[in-house]
Amino acid sequence: MAQPYLSDPSTRPARIRIGHLTEAKQRGEKFSMITCYDTMLAEIFDQAGIETLLVGDSAANTVLGYNSTLRITLDEMIVFAKAVVNGARRALVVADLPFGSYEQSPAQAVASAVRLMKEAGVHAIKIEGDERFAPYVDAMVAAGVPVIAHIGFTPQSEHALGGYKVQGRGDSAAQLVRTAVALQDAGAFAVLLEMVPSPVAAEVDAALRVPTIGIGAGSSTTGQVLVWQDMLGLGTGRTPRFVKKYANLREVISEAVTEYHQDVANGSFPSVEYEFEK
Ligand code: KIV
Repeated sequence: MAQPYLSDPSTRPARIRIGHLTEAKQRGEKFSMITCYDTMLAEIFDQAGIETLLVGDSAANTVLGYNSTLRITLDEMIVFAKAVVNGARRALVVADLPFGSYEQSPAQAVASAVRLMKEAGVHAIKIEGDERFAPYVDAMVAAGVPVIAHIGFTPQSEHALGGYKVQGRGDSAAQLVRTAVALQDAGAFAVLLEMVPSPVAAEVDAALRVPTIGIGAGSSTTGQVLVWQDMLGLGTGRTPRFVKKYANLREVISEAVTEYHQDVANGSFPSVEYEFEK
């Protein structure tokens, strides 16, 4: 492994640009991405050195409580994206184009991406889709929008794909590699691979000059991404196999709030130190 550059506080750039991620791949260095939807967590993740923050359409589930990412709107994404941009000083902020905001035409994709960049101030966008979306990537890049292409399992196509399923197994592995190359050649500066067998993700990574970012795609990708509520243990329900839980915030918050509730009920909060004098 080459000497870390991005993760070393003495060498890391004041602002992460897409070129730094390309260089990371060339240097054999890794980078991290975490989903983020608000200012305070953006500050924490940014100060921890996380290189890229993703305002994912997973906010549909994790913040808005919808049962699918399909329901979040572009206007809702813009609100979350603004908050993250306001909290991040160094990280590259990427936002998802939500379902319904780009599929009609490359022109619709450009218009939606421009709104995310102009109104929220994000630095790049992510789009789900296979090689049929190469002209969309091309149009956005021509308009000055840096694009990450999301392939493999694409949650917005959950119904078309028949549920949450690993993609790229068997004969479809070669197609996945071709898709990645087509989207790179259309101008995507990175390719995100979700729920893909590790050897297939390694093949995709080897076929590309741009970095790959994996979620459930093994360790060969240049970057890794996780949904913060999953990795920090805020959610309920089944944790996907590819998620490492780094904390149990649900327990921490629940214990703290229960203590506050008891303190209020028994009158021990607020005690004098939390009161104003006359
Ligand atoms: O919306 C999101 O959080 C994502 C990640 C799963 C990569 O797209």
